Amino acid sequence: MNTRSMKKIATIAIICFGIIGLISINGCVESKAVAAKSGAQLWAENCSRCHNMPAPSTFSQEQWKTVGMHMQSRALLTNKERDKIVEFLQQSN
Ligand code: HEC
Repeated sequence: MNTRSMKKIATIAIICFGIIGLISINGCVESKAVAAKSGAQLWAENCSRCHNMPAPSTFSQEQWKTVGMHMQSRALLTNKERDKIVEFLQQSN
């Protein structure tokens, strides 16, 4: 293998690592954005789109867990977002 093709491979490798690096940094930024939001905030942002926001006192803790699983697919929430919302809704019970 001559020097030129070595350089080419090295350049391609660096670009690939750069792209992978950027993707993983982006992933971290996104999860930090979720981590910064409280359950109450996520609830207000996500659960009022289709119906009135259900008050935390509407259901028992056990019922909120079920509602969370049901509404996660409707609201397209991550597990983390769902857990935070459910935790918030369970607090008043
Ligand atoms: C994409 C629209 C949509 C989003 C977003 C959504 N819901 Fe719903 N929700 C519905 C629909 C439609 C129903 C009624 C049918 C059903 O139960 O699937 C419902 C029913 C419910 C019920 C049941 C009410 C009852 O009396 O049984 C609760 C509680 C509820 N949603 C809570 C939430 C919470 C909490 C969130 C946020 C995580 C949320 N919803 C986000 C569409 C949505």
